[in-house]
Parts: sequence; structure tokens; C-alpha cells
Amino acid sequence: MPRVYIKTYGCQMNERDSEAVAAQLVAKGYEITPTEANADVILLNTCSVRDMAEQKAINKMENLAGQTRKKRDVVLGFMGCMAQSRGQQLLDQLPDVDLVLGTQKFHRAAEYIDQLLAGKRDKIVDTAAEAGSEGTIKEHLLLGSAERKSVSAFVSIMQGCNQYCTFCIVPYTRGEERSRTIADIVAECRKLVEGGVREITLLGQIVTSFGKREIPAVDGKSAFVQLLEAVHAIDGLHRIRFTSPHPKGYGDDLVEAYGRLPKLCQSAHIPLQSGSDRVLKLMHRGYTRERFVGIINKLRKVKPDIGLTTDIIVGFPGETEDDFEQTLSLCREVQFDNAYLFKYSQRRDTPAAAMPDQLAEELKEERHARILELINDIGAGRYREHVGQQMQILAEGPSRNNPSTMMGRTRCNKIVIFDGSPRHQAQLLDVKITRASLFTLHGDPAILE
Ligand code: SAH
Ligand code: F3S
Repeated sequence: MPRVYIKTYGCQMNERDSEAVAAQLVAKGYEITPTEANADVILLNTCSVRDMAEQKAINKMENLAGQTRKKRDVVLGFMGCMAQSRGQQLLDQLPDVDLVLGTQKFHRAAEYIDQLLAGKRDKIVDTAAEAGSEGTIKEHLLLGSAERKSVSAFVSIMQGCNQYCTFCIVPYTRGEERSRTIADIVAECRKLVEGGVREITLLGQIVTSFGKREIPAVDGKSAFVQLLEAVHAIDGLHRIRFTSPHPKGYGDDLVEAYGRLPKLCQSAHIPLQSGSDRVLKLMHRGYTRERFVGIINKLRKVKPDIGLTTDIIVGFPGETEDDFEQTLSLCREVQFDNAYLFKYSQRRDTPAAAMPDQLAEELKEERHARILELINDIGAGRYREHVGQQMQILAEGPSRNNPSTMMGRTRCNKIVIFDGSPRHQAQLLDVKITRASLFTLHGDPAILE
């Protein structure tokens, strides 16, 4: 039984794609191994969003090629976004690589690996587009084995993005927006719930654009809200989340859904990128600062305790001190619970890479440090506010850092560590928050009166 090791870089979509590939391989008789040391096949599922992520995967592959060449025959493969955007070039650069599999070809992994292991083919590069590939990421590992039972699962609802933000490589690596059908997604969710899953996160590069072209609005409800309703109707499912939305997708129908659908958790990760209208326009984001703040206010009106996180890029070409100050002031105004902060990274063939006034690395570093301090400061305060409150958590399992404690998440998507035991797993518990550390809460289920 050949052993496969898969290493994943990047976002939750990549994690999900890797899991689907692993499940497909297991179904064909392969074994998934947690270490590369004894693997017969090593796959790196790559990310292209920033240069650093690409360099990490390339360095890793260089090391692997060196090690395995000395030892034995191992199939080495790149999958995902960097495989898609670099294709054959990866083989030219790293001749020991056997397989380069693009973002519309994950479901072909098992078939290609069979051929490579059997010696039927020497090298395979497949980065072609494939109609219907958006519906091929549906297998889950947790349904196969008892010890991997998960409380929370990710479901991929669409592929690609048509927004073409000027800094972003995703539309080129993931292709045009393509959505699955609601029936197909609901069937997958139902199976997961039957397997013990209690929380589902719907995934896509721009989930709020789900089904935009294929599924007409009904009673003013977008296709995405119709999907939320259909998933909401599944018995036994406790919680629904989604990521990532685009601010332009927060119409009144979605805002109102938070009030109407009790399983839809009051949390949202809404990428901001910049607080300056001038920069937002250069980024081709399609909203203004005022519109963004308006959405946040509407959401807080429906759900005052909503958890809000965001993505921010510092050092976009031409970003002035004044532009940056506007991002800081928006963060102070909105009070995010947390934010992912990125230094702008030039991506090949994206419009922003050719814009004038690319900023020096030191200036990006400096702005990154300043905004990090602000976000940490605001976040610490937001987390502290929960101390003394009673909050509902869904217990997921042992905490990663300290497996003698348990972890769960609040509805507003904050991690809570508590003294519990595996019997709590998959349960909704009310806990009293006793303490807050940076981006983690500590709770006690026992001290509720
Ligand atoms: N909508 C996608 C966004 C993909 S990229 C999703 O679902 O995750 C994730 C984040 O990386 C973006 O929101 C942006 O903040 C950041 N990012 C994208 N391109 C970048 C670049 N060229 N440089 C720095 N950060 C970037
Ligand atoms: Fe990228 Fe903008 Fe789409 S950040 S994924 S092009 S919404």
C-alpha cells in the first residue's frame, strides 16, 4: 500500500483541497502518512498569494529532491495555485519533480500517481481548465475513519473569482467563478451531519458571489442567501459559517439573514484591504470606506455581539502616509476582533505589479509593525470584554497546545480553552469566561449557577 504525505500551504481552500485529494487516495487503497520520512509519494499543495509562500514550497521541494535522490524512488508532486501558475516551468527548474497538478485537476491526483508509480509515465503536467471541476472537491476523510471524526467541517461551494483586484493572483490561479448546485452542496452537508459534523463552514474565494449567474434571485434573496437557507434546513446541524465573502456581497438580504437564521453564527471575516478610498480604487475593490463602515454598522444593528475580522494589505503601490493613517483610523472606528495583516507582495502579471511607486520593504515593515500593534491592542480589549460573560461554545476536541485541556469556539468565532474531557466533544456548552489572553479566551463550564 503506497504511502502518501501531503503538505499544505496557504488558505482554508487549500486545506480542503488537500483533504479531498487525501480522501480520494485513501479510497483507491493509498495510505496517508503524517511524516515525509517513509512516504512513497510527497505532494506539496501550494499557495501563490504572496511571494514568500511560493519560495517556501520551492525550497521545501529542493530539499526533498536532494534527500530522496540519495535514498530511493519517491514520486514528488506540486499541486494547487503555484502548480497552476508556473506549470511546466517548475519541472524545468526542479527536474526531480514528477507531477504538476493545477487547481482544476485535484480529482485526477490518484489516477496520475497510479501511472507514475507503475512507471507508465515519466512526468505529468496538467494545468488545463476542466468543465465541472468545481463539483469535484467533495470527499471527506472524516467520513472514512472513526478516529478522525470531526465536529466542524469545510465544504467548498465554488471555485475562482471574477473580481480581479489589482494586487491578487487568485483569478489567474483559480480561474473564473464557477459554482456548484445548491442540491449538490446540501447533499454533501447532509452526509457530513450524518457522520457527526455539527458545524459547517462554506468555502470559496468570493462566496458572496455564489451562483450569481446561474441562480436567479428569489424574493430579493441572492443565490448565496438561498444556499444558506437550504443548508440551514438540515436537521442535526448546529452552526453555519462561511469564508471569504466580499464586502459588495453584503446586501440587505444577507444582513437580514443573520437575524433570521439562528444557525448562522454571528461572525464574519470581511476583507477590508485598505481604509483609503484612493487606494481602494487603485485596488479595484469596488467599495468605499463609507460603504464598508455602513455594512459593519448594519451587521452590528442586527447582531450587536457579532465577531468581526478582516484582511489588510499595507504598502500597496503609491500608498502614502495619509492613506495608511486612514486604514489605521478605520480600524479604530470599526474595532475588529482580529485582522490578518499582509505586506504587499508583487505578483507576476497582476496590474499592481506594474504600478509606479512600489514601496521600499523597510517602509512596508514599518507600517506592518504599526498596524499590528494597533490590531493587537484593539483585539486585547475586545477579548477582555468577554470576561465574566456566559458564552455558548461548540466543543471541538483537545486543545492543540495543551491536549489535556479542551477547545471550542464561541458563535462569534473566538477560541475558548476549558478544562473538559472528550465526553464534551461535539456538544454545545455554556461556559463562563474567566480570563482572556491575546486572541484566546479561557472558560469554565462548571461555575455557571
Ligand atoms: N477572497 C480570498 C482572498 C485570497 S487572498 C479568500 O477567500 O481568502 C487572502 C488575502 O491575502 C487577501 O484578502 C489579501 O489581504 C491578501 N493578499 C492577496 N494578494 C496579496 C498580495 N499581492 N500581497 C499581499 N497580500 C495579498
Ligand atoms: Fe483576490 Fe479580490 Fe478575488 S482579493 S480572490 S481578486 S475578491
